[in-house]
Amino acid sequence: MNRKWKNSNYGALGVGDIFQQETKYTPEKLREHSLDWSHRPPPFKNHESPISKIALPEPEITGGPNLWTVLNTRRSRRTYDAQRPIRLETLSVLLWANQGVTAIYGDTYFRTAPSAGGLYPVETHLNIRLVEGLEPGIYHFRPQAFDLEFLKKGDYSRELAEAALGQLMVMNAQLTFIWTAILGRSKWKYGQRAYRYVYLDAGHIAQNLYLAGEAVGLGVCAIGALFDEEVNRLIGVDGISETVIYMASVGWPKNRTGLDL
Ligand SMILES: Cc1cc2nc3c(=O)[nH]c(=O)nc-3n(C[C@H](O)[C@H](O)[C@H](O)COP(=O)(O)O)c2cc1C
Repeated sequence: MNRKWKNSNYGALGVGDIFQQETKYTPEKLREHSLDWSHRPPPFKNHESPISKIALPEPEITGGPNLWTVLNTRRSRRTYDAQRPIRLETLSVLLWANQGVTAIYGDTYFRTAPSAGGLYPVETHLNIRLVEGLEPGIYHFRPQAFDLEFLKKGDYSRELAEAALGQLMVMNAQLTFIWTAILGRSKWKYGQRAYRYVYLDAGHIAQNLYLAGEAVGLGVCAIGALFDEEVNRLIGVDGISETVIYMASVGWPKNRTGLDL
């Protein structure tokens, strides 16, 4: 425990305040730290019997606007043309930008987005509503195989919108990213401090999606307002070892000029 906080009255503080204090690094804490390599959690998630596996096309990642332009024009976009589908090739680009593997050293699969300790606790799930070549439903992205596992058939856009505190953009979005964290992957090394890192990791991933969306003309909007357990139930995770942490809707923007609130 941080010396400054020892014996202080936590009663007046909220769980977030206590978490911030209790997860501070100190030289003493770091001296006690060691890693149990024999219990390192698996770095990848694979479903035993998905409905099917869909290999993703090679992402087309040449051309397009430059980085400075997309940084300058990126906005959260919430109003979508609900009828126009997204090509599977375009989804491939978004998934690559989100968590694509860019180098392999030993058993570490380095990605487009950084991750604390190279542990990659964040998993990407998708609610697909209107993507050419994919049935509507819930999918899981596997960066190591660059494919999708089809988990659940049906249009869950309304259900997911309700789970996102009724945010209608999810109903019109062509797809919605649902990021979960497999907390054990990061807790193995960082203990409770892992909670800081999984959220930071997710922020990097989401920004990559924002920039890639902007580059291909799609609108992205981050979603932090959600009923955790409803989303967990929808995608089939237990909410304890793996839990939703963040989402983002993606669609063809109706309004690319001004603020789209
Ligand atoms: C952690 C986080 C959570 C957010 N959650 C929501 C959300 O639930 N709904 C929403 O419409 N926008 C959400 N946003 C988008 C912000 O409202 C938006 O980024 C902010 O208004 C700044 O606008 P800009 O992204 O266009 O620059 C979220 C953004 C972040 C970073």
